[in-house]
Amino acid sequence: MKAIGINEYGSIENLLEFDIPLEPLGSTDVVVDIKAISINPFDTKQRAGFYPKHPNKHRPLILGIDMAGIVTETGPDVTLFKVGDLVVGRPKASAQGTYRQQMVISQDLLVQIQDNVLIESAAALLAAGSAAYHALFTYGNLLSNQRVLIHGGAGGVGHLAIQLAKLKGSTVITTASKKHHDYLKSLGANQIIDYHSEDFSEIVKDIDLVIDTVGDKVQEKSLTILTPNGHIESLVGSIDPQNDKIHFFSAKFSTDALKEMLDLMSKGKLDVNIRYIDTFTVENVKKAHLELETKTGQGKIVLTLS
Ligand SMILES: NC(=O)c1ccc[n+]([C@@H]2O[C@H](COP(=O)([O-])OP(=O)(O)OC[C@H]3O[C@@H](n4cnc5c(N)ncnc54)[C@H](OP(=O)(O)O)[C@@H]3O)[C@@H](O)[C@H]2O)c1
Repeated sequence: MKAIGINEYGSIENLLEFDIPLEPLGSTDVVVDIKAISINPFDTKQRAGFYPKHPNKHRPLILGIDMAGIVTETGPDVTLFKVGDLVVGRPKASAQGTYRQQMVISQDLLVQIQDNVLIESAAALLAAGSAAYHALFTYGNLLSNQRVLIHGGAGGVGHLAIQLAKLKGSTVITTASKKHHDYLKSLGANQIIDYHSEDFSEIVKDIDLVIDTVGDKVQEKSLTILTPNGHIESLVGSIDPQNDKIHFFSAKFSTDALKEMLDLMSKGKLDVNIRYIDTFTVENVKKAHLELETKTGQGKIVLTLS
């Protein structure tokens, strides 16, 4: 089958098309014909060589951490899905990634997509939504009467985090380029700060939780605006691993969290902003990686497969 990945870490020019075989079907596995993938900053960093110890040791290394598609075959002991079901899921870290036409995946790593949720939206939700959910709730323990500062509010993680925090009833402050402010207001953000022209640490205080999608100086300044019990959940690393106010995590995949978010989408309460949709070609993967690495835009990039 057609797959896209790398032989060696490097620039977007290292992205190549490969012909890889389908894995053998285990008894509780299903075959998914992939219909949509989303492109994540994780993919661009993995391509560039930021994660040399990552458990996917295959060469070529097929990139991609989220996908949605249709079940086309089931192992003999599969109980949760049948042929024809629309599903979204994430392979385990040691497996090849999702930039490919088909994959064999355990039923435990999949969630059914409701009829009224677009398959492109489901694919775009998975990694970014999971990160937002775990930052806010699993680790952040955000409460309805608390104030959360979400950095990078228009990004893949940020726009979902804003919506989830507002659904919780919390007060949301966010940072973003000016061009995104009307959009972020429409999501319900209570206060929006243009990080290019304003210093958030001079404007806000008494923050219970900071969602850090930027790191470095932004993280350092975020330490100065916390309540006494406030803390930072960082998606990008800690400037000081000894500081117990900063918790860095790598989002684990939880089918329960994904189900909850898909349910919210199905009820029209949560919306994934898709920046653009393209077809699954090497050129379009290169374009999407370049876009994520060099531009700032809203929401997620999705590639579709016929
Ligand atoms: N640890 C994990 O499990 C995990 C999971 C998901 C993501 N991540 C990481 O989290 C980061 C964000 O991911 P994403 O998918 O949201 O990326 P994204 O879609 O590329 O969005 C990044 C956003 O950051 C904003 N930004 C850049 N510099 C900023 C600054 N100084 N202050 C405030 N905002 C700034 C940009 O905003 P404007 O457009 O407004 O300029 C952009 O919208 C990435 O580094 C990613 O690798 C980690």
